[in-house]
Amino acid sequence: MPATSTQSALLLSLLLLLGQAQAASEPGPAALATRAGIPHPAVIAHRGASFDAPESTAAAYKLARDLGVDYLELDLQRSKDGVLFALHDNNLQRTTDVASKFPERKDSPANAFTMAELKTLDAGSWFNTAYPDRAQPAFAGLKILTLDEIIDIAQGNPLHKPGLYIETKEPKQFPGIEHDLKEKLQDRGWLSPAGSKLAKSALGVGQGKGKVVLQTFEKSSLELLQKEMPQVPKILLLWVGEGSIEPKSTVSFAESGEKDKAAYYAKQQPKDQAEFQRWVDYAKSQGAIGTGPSAALTHGGDQSYADLVQPWMNQYTHDQGLLVHVYTIDEAADFQKVMDAGVDGIFTNRASELLKFYKRPATASVAQVLRNNGY
Ligand code: G3P
Ligand code: CA
Repeated sequence: MPATSTQSALLLSLLLLLGQAQAASEPGPAALATRAGIPHPAVIAHRGASFDAPESTAAAYKLARDLGVDYLELDLQRSKDGVLFALHDNNLQRTTDVASKFPERKDSPANAFTMAELKTLDAGSWFNTAYPDRAQPAFAGLKILTLDEIIDIAQGNPLHKPGLYIETKEPKQFPGIEHDLKEKLQDRGWLSPAGSKLAKSALGVGQGKGKVVLQTFEKSSLELLQKEMPQVPKILLLWVGEGSIEPKSTVSFAESGEKDKAAYYAKQQPKDQAEFQRWVDYAKSQGAIGTGPSAALTHGGDQSYADLVQPWMNQYTHDQGLLVHVYTIDEAADFQKVMDAGVDGIFTNRASELLKFYKRPATASVAQVLRNNGY
C-alpha cells in the first residue's frame, strides 16, 4: 500500500532527526572542539590585534577583545625577579627602546631584566615608526604587560570575555615556568572547572571550560604542561626545522640562494610523510588536543613558513582525533585556502578581518574600538 503524504512527511522528519543525532555523536573536529569548550573555527588574536596596534600591549589586547575574538594569544616569559610577562622575541631590541634606556644591556635576553626595569621601556613607539599608516600618538609609551595585566584585560569587557592562548616561549630558558603558570592561573581562578553550559555562554570562550589553551613548540614543555595542568587543552606547535619536524633538505637559507626567508621556508617540507605523522602521534601521546602548524602565505613576509596544513596533513591529524590551529594568517585568500584544507582555527594578526571572513564581524570598526579604549 503506498504511503500517504502525511506518512511520507513523518518519515522524512524522522530521517532528518536521525541524521542530525548521528552527526552530533560522530567523532569529528567540530565535536572535539565543542567538547573541549573551544569555538570551531576559533579566532586566535596573535599577540593581540597586532596588525593594528603594537603587539602584546594593552592597545592590541583590548582591541582584539572588543572586536570579539575567541582567544588572546601571548608568548610567556619570566623576568629576572620571577614575574610572568608577554614578549615574543628573545631580546627587547625590536619592540622596545632598550637600546636607549639600557645601551650596555641591549642584547641581553629579556629575562636578564627585573619587571621594574621592563616597565620603564616604551613598547609602542617602534610600531609608529615601522607602520606610519597605522601609527597613533597614544601608542607611544605603551608598556610590556604582565600575565596578570593580560588576565585583567581578558576579564575587562562585561559583554565579551575571550580566553587566553598561552605559549611557553623558549621554555628551556625558564625552568619551572610551567609550574609558575599553573600557580598564576590557579590564583586568578582560570583553572576552576566550568560546565559545558558555560562554554556556550554568549559572553565568550573566557567563561567556559576551554578558557585557557596552552601551546608550545618544545616537547619537554608539553610534557611539563600536561603534568602540571592535565585538564587544560594543549596544542603542540609545529614547524620544519631545528627542534621540530626534520626537513627533507638540509640546505641552509644562506646556501639556498633564495632572496628572502619566506621563499626559502615555502620550499621546506618534512623529511617524509612518516616524519610529519610521528609529530602528530607524539602530540596525541602526550595528551595534546591538537597541533599548531605553520603555513606558507601567498604574499610571503616574516611570518610565512613551511606549508604544514596540506589537506593530507589535516586529514591525518583529524584521523588521530586532534584539532588543527594554523599560524599566522592575515589575508582573506589565505583564510579561504587553509579553511578549504581543513583547519579548525586560525592565529591571526588581523582579528577584524578574520572575524569578517567567518561572518562574525565586529559591531565597531578598528578605529572606533581603539578610540573607545583611549588610543
Ligand atoms: O604561537 C603560535 C605562533 O605564535 C607561533 O609563532 O613565533 O609567532 O610565536 P610565533
Ligand atoms: Ca606565539
